[in-house]
Amino acid sequence: MPPILEAKEIVKTYRVYRKRFIGYEETKNTIALEDINFGVNKGQFISIIGPSGCGKTTLLRIFAGLVKADGGQVLMKGKPVDGPSPNVGMVFQNIGLLPWRTAQGNVELAFELRNHRAPTDEEKTKAHDFVSKVGLESFEESYPYQLSGGMQQRIGLARALVTQPEILLADEPFGALDAQTRLILQDELLKLYSTGNITVLFVTHDLDEAIYLSDQVIVLTKRPGRIKRMFDVDLERPRFATDTRSKEKFISLKREVWETLKEEIVLSQSA
Ligand SMILES: Nc1ncnc2c1ncn2[C@@H]1O[C@H](COP(=O)(O)OP(=O)(O)O)[C@@H](O)[C@H]1O
Ligand SMILES: [Mg+2]
Repeated sequence: MPPILEAKEIVKTYRVYRKRFIGYEETKNTIALEDINFGVNKGQFISIIGPSGCGKTTLLRIFAGLVKADGGQVLMKGKPVDGPSPNVGMVFQNIGLLPWRTAQGNVELAFELRNHRAPTDEEKTKAHDFVSKVGLESFEESYPYQLSGGMQQRIGLARALVTQPEILLADEPFGALDAQTRLILQDELLKLYSTGNITVLFVTHDLDEAIYLSDQVIVLTKRPGRIKRMFDVDLERPRFATDTRSKEKFISLKREVWETLKEEIVLSQSA
């Protein structure tokens, strides 16, 4: 079977223009990505890790159809991505809940945006189910300001998954959370993943998180981001926070991925 997601020779340069008396002048080009090639098979959980500014967010946004590559192609089920797809759910670091809507209302928004109409009763029930699935059953009527950062991210996850997309694209969704909350949400995500028949592409700068969650970890070089190495994570599922992390396999893989990543971080800081 062909991969459900595929990047083929992706190149992306950001061009910045300054207005002149007549026309525009190019002032600064940033090559964000160079020659990115990889595939994600259906049901896989793949993490992308790399130094800050190496193009991780750019790559994810290209997959989402929100940014256009200037070379190469991204394919979803073999077809070029030319815009956002209802088949894809997204979560970010700042999840952007609507402050005037309740937790439940924010999850229902996923249907409203997809269908351009008010949610049906069935969709409301589904939203209710997903609020429960992320552990917030008694907070349905709460507004975002009444919820902690971790609870808001849970709502974000529920909103991304309630329409049951085939693919989840995540850009450092736990990046702003404290360390303990982060561990808990990682396990919540794995639980949803294990029951959801979903493919996940997950960007993080957290080595431990990348390994713990994934089937495969892709390490990018410093900017312009290229694939430096791909690691298979040969750890059985279900995974358990402390048990899995104390396995010899986990520890030695973490050491190896870190050695690879560290080279790039050092280079990116000396450039
Ligand atoms: N809209 C933009 N215009 C110009 N440069 C950008 C834009 N978005 C990102 N960049 C630059 O592209 C590079 C990669 O950014 P990004 O994909 O956000 O990296 P990461 O998520 O790995 O930190 C950075 O140097 C960033 O400053
Ligand atoms: Mg980023």
